[in-house]
Amino acid sequence: MSVNNSMKTEKQLIEAINLLRKQKDALILAHFYQEDAIQEIADYVGDSLALAQWASKAQNEIIVMCGVHFMGETAKILSPDKKVLIPDRNAGCSLADSCPADEFEDLIAKYPEHIVISYVNTTAAVKALTDIVVTSSNAKQIVDSLPQKEKIIFGPDRNLGNYINGITGRNMMLWDGACHVHEQFSLIKILELIKQNPDALLLAHPECKKYILEVADHVGSTSSILKFATNSENEKFIIATEAGILHELRKQNPDKIFIAAPPEDATCACNECSYMKLNTLEKLYLCLKNEEPEITVDENIRIKAVKSIERMLEISAQYGL
Ligand code: 13P
Ligand code: SF4
Repeated sequence: MSVNNSMKTEKQLIEAINLLRKQKDALILAHFYQEDAIQEIADYVGDSLALAQWASKAQNEIIVMCGVHFMGETAKILSPDKKVLIPDRNAGCSLADSCPADEFEDLIAKYPEHIVISYVNTTAAVKALTDIVVTSSNAKQIVDSLPQKEKIIFGPDRNLGNYINGITGRNMMLWDGACHVHEQFSLIKILELIKQNPDALLLAHPECKKYILEVADHVGSTSSILKFATNSENEKFIIATEAGILHELRKQNPDKIFIAAPPEDATCACNECSYMKLNTLEKLYLCLKNEEPEITVDENIRIKAVKSIERMLEISAQYGL
């Protein structure tokens, strides 16, 4: 097939991607926050835990991580012999950025008797300083699996950490980081929406601020929100997480109504993760064609980081997650 990038329609891009993925034995993984077209073409679409699990089991030569950089790093850490690609190298994460490894290391050094739990939204260097990685799908179970007397440092998301403290009865020391998307939701506007839609349930991601979580009917990861909405007899939901999840929610529940929770600033699409949205179908095609941008992880860091991720996968498997 001849390839002229500027001339390609969406249909041509899809055809070209399908050809390249076969020729190059590539597995395409996508997070629920990716644009619809990427979710549609991916082999698997899931939350951070599922992406790590699929990456760890991948048999393909190439893994294309349609998500953000830390998701690509996690895949590379778990499958170092695979080539891991990401459509846009600049697809970062404000939460991961809120926890520089050197500053996190300084905190850990002050509390050597603490076990270190890190959210998966961290760099490989932070994971290398960590005892157990968690995602929002397994954080409760992993914290519960530790003895009650265990002293814990939890980073970097203060909202998730605070929420887990509340539901587990712990008093983990929290890093003061946050996600710029989830902290944007407006309580006043959400309460107004609930008033206008008294039959709707509010489903929120634990990265949202405490006052949002307190009024939510269900708090959970993206996959947990999807499961809850799909299994619920309710027909209307207000969704307080990145708007990309609406695609899969509507696909699995065509007869239900999903309303995106509004951000504070109505003039911008603040409930969209600008990093996640850097990936496009065209960049996915180009990254398969050129086999770059490639994710690499320093081997000394990888060897340390893999232990904390594998510990997460082991405990998750024990809980059937
Ligand atoms: P999930 O693991 O719930 O998909 O969340 C990932 C993420 O980046 C949330 O902002
Ligand atoms: Fe990071 Fe927030 Fe984007 Fe998730 S939504 S990838 S936490 S910036």
